Amino acid sequence: AGVVAVAAERAAPKLIDPHAEAIRRAELARRRPGAATVRATLNPRPVTLDLGGVTVDTWSYAEAAPGPLIRAKAGDRLRVDVVNDLPTDTSVHWHGVALRNDMDGVPGVTQDPIGAGGRFTYEFTLPDPGTYFYHPHSGVQLDRALHGVLIVDDPNDAGRYDQEWIIVLDDWVDGTGRTPDDVLAALGADISGMHGGHGMPGMNHGAGMPMGGGEMETMMSPLLGGAGDVDYPHYLINGRAPSAPVTLTARPRQRVRIRLVNAASDTAFRVALGGHRLTVTHSDGFPVVPDVTDALVVGMGERVDVEVVVADGVFPLVAVAEGKTGQALAVVRTGGGRPPAAQVRPAELDRRVILTNQLRAADSVRLPQRAPDRTHDLVLGGGMMPYRWTINGKTFSDAEPLLVREGERVRLRMTNQTMMFHPMHVHGHTFALRDGGPRKDTVIVTPRQTVTVDLDADNPGQWMTHCHNIYHAETGMMINLAYQ
Ligand code: C2O
Ligand code: CU
Repeated sequence: AGVVAVAAERAAPKLIDPHAEAIRRAELARRRPGAATVRATLNPRPVTLDLGGVTVDTWSYAEAAPGPLIRAKAGDRLRVDVVNDLPTDTSVHWHGVALRNDMDGVPGVTQDPIGAGGRFTYEFTLPDPGTYFYHPHSGVQLDRALHGVLIVDDPNDAGRYDQEWIIVLDDWVDGTGRTPDDVLAALGADISGMHGGHGMPGMNHGAGMPMGGGEMETMMSPLLGGAGDVDYPHYLINGRAPSAPVTLTARPRQRVRIRLVNAASDTAFRVALGGHRLTVTHSDGFPVVPDVTDALVVGMGERVDVEVVVADGVFPLVAVAEGKTGQALAVVRTGGGRPPAAQVRPAELDRRVILTNQLRAADSVRLPQRAPDRTHDLVLGGGMMPYRWTINGKTFSDAEPLLVREGERVRLRMTNQTMMFHPMHVHGHTFALRDGGPRKDTVIVTPRQTVTVDLDADNPGQWMTHCHNIYHAETGMMINLAYQ
């Protein structure tokens, strides 16, 4: 019940942004003469989905998960009509896009919620190419099928790839006897202390200690310290469980761009393609110095683009739930051969594994050196018992905003005092990791680690800064980065 109270408090409207004029000015500065307008409609609604042998009643933007792919070119304007046929409020957030603040989709902060039966039109310029996604910023709705990919094409990429595969990673609980709200309530039951938190089904209390299952052979050595708080019955690639995976095709020796999007709520994935090494080219949409690896970790909210020249045959693309039991699978087919078993574990998963923090920014997007005009410290705290996650000791409803001024170079120093990893996300901006590190909007902060990032405050408004573990965000680990 405690957690429900926190959620209700959070829904109370904060102020709607007083910077309407500055927001309009920033949008006008982004506009390009002759830019196209790309239109789309999103219709969130209750649906029945087949995950591949598992049928679930859930909420989605389409008759399949993930939602419709939205694709535009850098500089285009996007106009999306949202028709809400859910039995409750919703919103759509454009994750990673440096857009006008009043289109950022945060109910109670940048707009009123879109009520049941209501409509809202989002319209904004897409300034930067890259791989993005969209999802509600309302409660734990992200943990249903309410997400989809937004690709902003880079004209410089024309002709570079023979093929493109879009991979959406997800952890799935909805409609399997529980909803995400049930999960939240069960986690919150720990707050009341009534159940003591022991033996509660579906909760993974030993942060870093994989529990349950046992059908998987061995756990890989954990990279992130924590495993996530929820044990999911299914892990999906493009809406399919490993029992009925999607097949991705190409011809042998074709150059394929794989766009990986982690839309999961509580799960980081370790990804590898059997028989191949992967060249990482982009992190959160921004180019990096190409890095060749066997496997990589993708945190919740992160997007990673990799390039691969495919061999001849049938290969498993596997995404292991980091520190948990279970995995997602897609089948890559460029020639003949038997399909892989659902439980296949390519050896690449245990060779060189990188986190995106280790990448370097490509020269074209390196943030110019400049001393910060101000530094904000964000101490990430909280834990399972009670289930409450904080920034600087406060939950979102109590936290004072992090103030910045337009034109400043702002440094955020994020220190994780917990035993759980936190993928920290800043809306409306792309930050740079220190000393030539990658440009990103979501970065994993592992237990007891400090990650320092710099950003240019060039997009006026109020921007949520939060953990992209949706249960952490919903129970407090969120703060407002607000322009004065
Ligand atoms: Cu995907 Cu507030 O973010
Ligand atoms: Cu977190």
